[in-house]
Amino acid sequence: MSGCPSCPARSPRGHGGVAAEDDTVPCGTPVHRRVVGGSGAQEGQWPWTVSVAFRGRHVCGGALIAPAWVLTAAHCFPPENPLPEYRVTLGVLQLLSPPPDAQVRGVASVARHPAYGGDDIAGDLALARLDPPASPSRLVRPVCVPAAGVTFDPGMNCTVTGWGHVRTAVPLPPPKALQQLEVPLLSRRHCRCLYALGTGTGTGTELGTPAGDTLCAGLPRGQRDACQGDSGGPLTCRLAGTWHLAGVVSWGDACGLPGRPGVYTAVSPHLPWILSLVPELAPRRPPPDAVPGVPNVPEGVPEGPCEWRELPPGWPRPLSPGPGGDTDTDTGVAPGGARALRLAALAAALLWVLG
Ligand code: ARG
Repeated sequence: MSGCPSCPARSPRGHGGVAAEDDTVPCGTPVHRRVVGGSGAQEGQWPWTVSVAFRGRHVCGGALIAPAWVLTAAHCFPPENPLPEYRVTLGVLQLLSPPPDAQVRGVASVARHPAYGGDDIAGDLALARLDPPASPSRLVRPVCVPAAGVTFDPGMNCTVTGWGHVRTAVPLPPPKALQQLEVPLLSRRHCRCLYALGTGTGTGTELGTPAGDTLCAGLPRGQRDACQGDSGGPLTCRLAGTWHLAGVVSWGDACGLPGRPGVYTAVSPHLPWILSLVPELAPRRPPPDAVPGVPNVPEGVPEGPCEWRELPPGWPRPLSPGPGGDTDTDTGVAPGGARALRLAALAAALLWVLG
């Protein structure tokens, strides 16, 4: 196996997303490479996608980036939730019937990104340290964290995986099999423009505007999106045959609505923070087809601004109440824990919207 192009070929301590104790485990390389029809994933296809549970209930996804570290969303770990009540499950496909070799871990510590907690939902990232670290196996492998300078450009097709709702307010039915969905990346300009449509301001600075460190994915007309319970989960893109973590599910306005693409925290801008906590990931080289300045997307992809005619007739309707439009009242996990009160005040409007 050739391994991760962003990882050094060999190093004594297993850099670049390769297991520190075992440099024979490459990052970003699933056991099963087959692309399947439908949206149910295959065993070993997304071996870095993990389930984060609080008090025994799945609340979020996450991505294994090193044996001891899962990258997820900051809003999955509100400070008031006691860490000892979290569990991370790795190597599972059907949440309700995990295989005997699935790995369940506690969370020794969690680091929320310092930028998280402001009004714009920037820095919605957290690094959870597993206790004990995961053991790389057939079903458990890290994803590659992008090398410095790697960009994920608009039009690129990437895949989001998770156990979240299948539609707004519709939980994934038993046996709760991991879902995968291919979604095209949108430029931030295009995405902000879409979120501003129908809000009356068009300035792109109001509440509900994707922050500067986000990536958007989906179609202007909606339909393809992550949803509640997918938060923290990985948006991965294939570069030179290897899967890289481009983003982490953060928020959206309900799920799959026209003009309201899924918003993800982009990983690349936060590499320095990630490397400061997980130094074993450095150094790394960018994959040859993704060095800065070399486009890795088809030509002719709209760079924004957006247009009303991209949306079906009648859309967009007014923006759901702020980014809390996707507040998951089921799990108690909402984007921006610090805004919990304001979100609660909007809950009635939200219920109407979800209804
Ligand atoms: N905040 C949600 C969660 O806690 C994730 C929402 C993503 N929503 C979307 N429409 N893309 O699971």
